[in-house]
Amino acid sequence: MQFPIHCKTLLSLLADGHFHSGTGLARSLGLSRSAVWGMIHDLQARGLAFSAVPGKGYRLAKPLELLDGDTILASLSETARQRILGLEIHDELDSTNTFLMSQAASGRPSGTVCLAESQTAGRGRIGRAWQSPYGGAICLSLLWRFEEHGSVAGLSLAVGVAIHRALRRAGIKGIGLKWPNDLLCEDRKLGGILLEVVGEAHGRCAVVVGIGLNVQLPSGPAKAIDQAWTDLSQIIGGKPPSRNQLIAYLLEELLDLLAHYPTRGLSAYLDEWRQWHCMGGRKAVLHVGDKTIEGVVAGVSEAGLLLLDCGEAGLKEFASGDVRLRADQGKRSAQ
Ligand code: BTN
Repeated sequence: MQFPIHCKTLLSLLADGHFHSGTGLARSLGLSRSAVWGMIHDLQARGLAFSAVPGKGYRLAKPLELLDGDTILASLSETARQRILGLEIHDELDSTNTFLMSQAASGRPSGTVCLAESQTAGRGRIGRAWQSPYGGAICLSLLWRFEEHGSVAGLSLAVGVAIHRALRRAGIKGIGLKWPNDLLCEDRKLGGILLEVVGEAHGRCAVVVGIGLNVQLPSGPAKAIDQAWTDLSQIIGGKPPSRNQLIAYLLEELLDLLAHYPTRGLSAYLDEWRQWHCMGGRKAVLHVGDKTIEGVVAGVSEAGLLLLDCGEAGLKEFASGDVRLRADQGKRSAQ
């Protein structure tokens, strides 16, 4: 869903984070001052924070870099650009994954990318909600088709490595990986991956890789997050990196990964995954459905399964679940 054109123009005028008078904005938009006020009100209701000061006008609480398809495409290598067969940017969607899953069903090709400035029903793993306030995060989904269903084994771990590489390219350090595919900084969640697969005829399948990365979350919507979280502006301690540039790095890494995954497989990414794993040797509880299993995280198997040292019960492998640190753990982050 796109915002009405006037609303989008208003946002681009205010994106610099400086004050703009109501009269000036109304003149630029060819609208009345009360129409401008109405749009600001609507945007506030969608989670954008403004200040309004008599005699000065309106300003966004924080400058905003709007997503821009041309900027993203211009930052990509020729190889990556050719692998993109559609790039859609929405102001608001329920969920970029839900949207692309339905597009997959109607035959959209590999290399279809969907981005949204905000999601009203963003989805996380294990049925969790994912908060995505306007302009505060990266909400990216990418559709890819595989000839063989078996080719996608371990893909979600490899995607974690691809995101880690993209973050390093952007100069962001200190990020760790947590099984199966969380990105953490000092045990606080920076981002996550929701990988959804639909089987098709003759062993083929379509995969939607959904990535959520917190860039600069406003405090209001962030209150709804039910776990320790962080964002790139906190990690950097100031102005976050350009979302458009970061999306280009992400697409560059993801498209290379997906194009070669059937031949390379998880083994090409495992060493790197293990290098950035930030839970190794830590006491944890694994939640699988309504069961809990205590142990010490021992790493991941060659197939990408979680290895949990369960003491007398021995070393066990798990294919799914949610790993949570035991309360008596200290913090740790990657190098
Ligand atoms: C998790 O860690 O639980 C996974 C979070 C994945 C969130 C992203 S945001 C883009 C895409 N659309 C969604 O609804 N979810 C994923």
